[in-house]
Amino acid sequence: MVEVRYFSKSGNTKAVADVIAAEAGVKAGSVEGADAVRADILFLGGALYAGGIAGKLKKFIKTLSPEHVGCVAVFSTTANPNGAYAKIKKALDKQGLRVLEHEFHCTGGQAKSGEAARHAAVFANEVLEETRRG
Ligand SMILES: Cc1cc2nc3c(=O)[nH]c(=O)nc-3n(C[C@H](O)[C@H](O)[C@H](O)COP(=O)(O)O)c2cc1C
Repeated sequence: MVEVRYFSKSGNTKAVADVIAAEAGVKAGSVEGADAVRADILFLGGALYAGGIAGKLKKFIKTLSPEHVGCVAVFSTTANPNGAYAKIKKALDKQGLRVLEHEFHCTGGQAKSGEAARHAAVFANEVLEETRRG
């Protein structure tokens, strides 16, 4: 089972989440008010705000457990061209979750572009294929 969750203040990360979810044939959901997730693959997206990830994303990550989530594929949109993988991974690592090295990021300015959507779709399909192979 595939789930897609994101935290997004201004819609950039949500735009990427929606592309990934469409590829996976599911609906993306915000982490805000979300119940703890059970999934074989969880695509999890966030951004950086003043150098860190949002408190609501951190709070959601604390609800995740390796018993209920097989692996996490991270995506992010930030001003910084390096993305937020390192910060999101750090929080996921603390929960003992398996975090894929394969990640997707783009700048906030690109997030709603057709090019970002094409790259995000490729990312989603590669992750789905990799995890199917095990
Ligand atoms: C208040 C605020 C603080 C931000 N701080 C950072 C930052 O420290 N580093 C960074 O790379 N981007 C920063 N950004 C850019 C956001 O990470 C970027 O616009 C992202 O795409 C926002 O995603 P969202 O639309 O899903 O909320 C900041 C944006 C805002 C609005």
